[in-house]
Order: sequence, then structure tokens, then C-alpha cells
Amino acid sequence: MKELETALKNEQNSRRNFFKKVSLSGIAVLVASKFSFGGKSFLPEGTSWDKTFSKLDESKLTGQSKQSPLPYAYNALEPVVDAKTMEIHYSKHHAAYTKNLNDATTGPEYASKTLFQIFTEMEKYPVAVKNNGGGFYNHLLFWTLLSSGAGQEPQGDLLKAINESFGSVDKFKEGFGNAGKKQFGSGWAWLSVNEKGKLVVSSTANQENPLMSTTEVRGIPVLTLDIWEHAYYLQYQNRRAEYVDAFWKIVNWKEVSRRYNEAILALK
Ligand SMILES: [Fe+2]
Repeated sequence: MKELETALKNEQNSRRNFFKKVSLSGIAVLVASKFSFGGKSFLPEGTSWDKTFSKLDESKLTGQSKQSPLPYAYNALEPVVDAKTMEIHYSKHHAAYTKNLNDATTGPEYASKTLFQIFTEMEKYPVAVKNNGGGFYNHLLFWTLLSSGAGQEPQGDLLKAINESFGSVDKFKEGFGNAGKKQFGSGWAWLSVNEKGKLVVSSTANQENPLMSTTEVRGIPVLTLDIWEHAYYLQYQNRRAEYVDAFWKIVNWKEVSRRYNEAILALK
């Protein structure tokens, strides 16, 4: 256990350094994140999402959020996702959410807020902050979960947890895939760690995510899939199911594992 914690700390440190290097400089990212949260907890009494989030929080926002550079080239995910889609998705769609979030959070009431803090009290904020805050964060997360390295599969503690929650990796993929395929309209499919430390699958509409207090199935996201048409329409047109099935070829399972281990530690 001690070895695991040490390994995770090392990994977290390397990630902190990575994010520092790749910019987000205006966001005071990942620097010994001990933020005070005034938001109400949505965990059962005796536990605290606020405390949990304070261990995870990556962004002290407000008016100066920046996209981190893509960790791969636009064409790196071909043939699953074509280069043009990646370019438009990142440089237009994600860029627009980022700009619109900054425009919506310039007021003094946001000066000391983090994005996760806002998510914890989402119902208190304007819809523009919800839509663009979700759009900014969801894409930031999504890019890290994709990889050109095909052929990976879940391993270790993550594999064990998937088997415990869903019976098998195939059953998990079927459930997650169906969440994406059946979501009406635009949205996201999610694999999250819930307040009991169990993996759960869900989907959300628009730019909502499981961190938000307005979302039915809440938890710490460890894997997500963008099922807005802008994510696949150039290549797949109306064939969303084909896009969802192809997604498994580009999942960065190492990052999913890292996020799973981080979430479990944060809940303790
Ligand atoms: Fe998107």
C-alpha cells in the first residue's frame, strides 16, 4: 500500500510538472492544491466531496482559463478520429468554450473560485458558466484520455474494479457504449468513481458532467467520451454507434488507471 501511495505521489508530481510545462500558467494549476470550499457536500453525511475535490482540483479559474496543448498531433488518432475533426474540435469548439468561460467569469464573485468549487454549487451559477465551464473542463479531460497507442486494455486495480462493478471488461464496454449511443442529442458518456469508491457508468446532456451538483449520477470522472456530433460527424455522419465502438481503439488506459487510483486515494 505504501508502495502504491509512493508511486501515485510520484506520478502526481510528474503530472503536475507536465501541466506546469504545457502552460495553464494563468490557472495556478495543480500547485499544492489545498483550497477552501464553502460549497455543500453531496456525499452522505460524514464524508466530504469538498475535501475530495480539494485533492483533485486542477484549476483556479476565473477569467484566465487556458487550453492545454493537445498531447498529440491532430492526425495521431487516425483512422478512428480524422485530423480535420480533431483540429476543428480542439481549435474551434474547445477554444470557444474556453473563451466563453473566461468572458462569463470576469466578475469579482469568481476571483477566488475554482472550477470544481463552482461545479459543487452549479445551481447557483448562470447557465453560461455551466455550459462553458463544462465545455472547457470536459474537453480538457477528454484529450488526456485518448492515445494513438492502440491495443491497450485496463489492468491492475482498475481492471479489478471494472470486473467487480460490471462483471467483465466487455460488459463494461457494452454499458458505457450504450450510455453514449442512447443519450438523446448532444452529451457525454462517463465512467466515474462514486462516493462509495465504486465505478459507475452514466451519460449527461449538453456539457454537464458528474462533478456538477445538478447531475443525477455523481462521481469523479475517470473516462469520458464526447458524443456531440462535432466530435465525429465529418467522418461518421449519422453513424454515432460506429464512432462509439471505434473509441475503444484509442482509449489511453494508462491515464484512466492513473485517474482511478487518484480518485480512490482522494476519497479516503
Ligand atoms: Fe466536443
